[in-house]
Amino acid sequence: MTYSIKIKNILCVLLLGTATAQYPIAQSRDEMFQFISEMPKAELHVHLEGTMSPQTIVKLANRNGYSFFNNVEDVFESLENRAPGLGGFLQHHDKQVSVIQTENDFYTLTYDFLKNCFENNIVYVEFFFDPQIHSERGIAFESVLEGILKGKKAGEKNFNIKSNLIMCANREKSIESAMEILEKAKPYKNYIVGIGLDNGPENGNPPVKFTSFYQEAKRQGYYLTIHNDVDEANSVEHIWQAIDILKVDRLDHSINAIEDLSLVEEINNREIYIAASPVQRRRDPVPQDIGRIKFMLDHGMNVSLHSDDPGEFESGYLTKLLFNFQQAGHFSKRDMARFMLNAFKATWLEQADKDAYIKSFKKWAKENGVRI
Ligand code: ADE
Ligand code: ZN
Repeated sequence: MTYSIKIKNILCVLLLGTATAQYPIAQSRDEMFQFISEMPKAELHVHLEGTMSPQTIVKLANRNGYSFFNNVEDVFESLENRAPGLGGFLQHHDKQVSVIQTENDFYTLTYDFLKNCFENNIVYVEFFFDPQIHSERGIAFESVLEGILKGKKAGEKNFNIKSNLIMCANREKSIESAMEILEKAKPYKNYIVGIGLDNGPENGNPPVKFTSFYQEAKRQGYYLTIHNDVDEANSVEHIWQAIDILKVDRLDHSINAIEDLSLVEEINNREIYIAASPVQRRRDPVPQDIGRIKFMLDHGMNVSLHSDDPGEFESGYLTKLLFNFQQAGHFSKRDMARFMLNAFKATWLEQADKDAYIKSFKKWAKENGVRI
């Protein structure tokens, strides 16, 4: 190594900081893209209803006789006109969800999503579905589930992707309504690995509102997670409630935890995994939350990265999201592999299956020059 290269490497280490110190030589964009796209992935935070591409939305809107999404430009316009934050997000989300009507639509959605997973080298996925946003439109719980399960079966067969469902209750709806979906889910228990809570607003709908839902779900053998969307009101207090009262196994988003170092310590002590989603909207210059997620990784938090609603964000599906996040935050290959190892560790698989995925992921990382 020549003297000037040595100096350059030392400067790189100083500039990039501790998280990237092991790989001081900058990777080329192409090499990094190849590394990220070939990386075997686990996707743990993705809403089936948010996976629809604008093309699929238009297809379903035409099929079901809706006139508000006649072409993809209509979809882009609705996406662009969203207000910031969770409220603005849900405005468009609810509108696009309304084009899904039949069991066959749920089949199409699930099959297309698993195809996308295959193209993104996702080998295992746990995906959310929201039965209440469909039952309130007159679609039976059973139609939703039968369509999803047919799509899942076909997707698994054609693309060799293992998947499990997470059933979300909506936090703006009543506890009684949440309890009802637990009852309805009983015949499908083998396919639903966990329960969650999403939608909003979060203000006025704290986690404790759903204590009995979480207790009953735990009693029935489900794993537990919960959305605490970023920068919503009372986020830190809600995360405390989620871990202390609901006793969740995982946290979704929950990035505001870093505002309270005793909460960070508690999450780490209890080995709770955090499924973050650094999405990017159309006009965002870079993905959201890079600095805060870097802080989490550097402070030993078990954080992983996911696509949330890939059809509705510029960040898109997982490979693109990870690559843009890496580029904007100057993360090393090792950092990116650590995020993904956290995802495999956070899965709700049988222990033997989880161990097999972790072993195979570590082998892949080693073969690609990364020790984790
Ligand atoms: N529904 C779909 N995506 C969501 C998110 N990120 N937060 C709350 N509800 C959602
Ligand atoms: Zn989400």
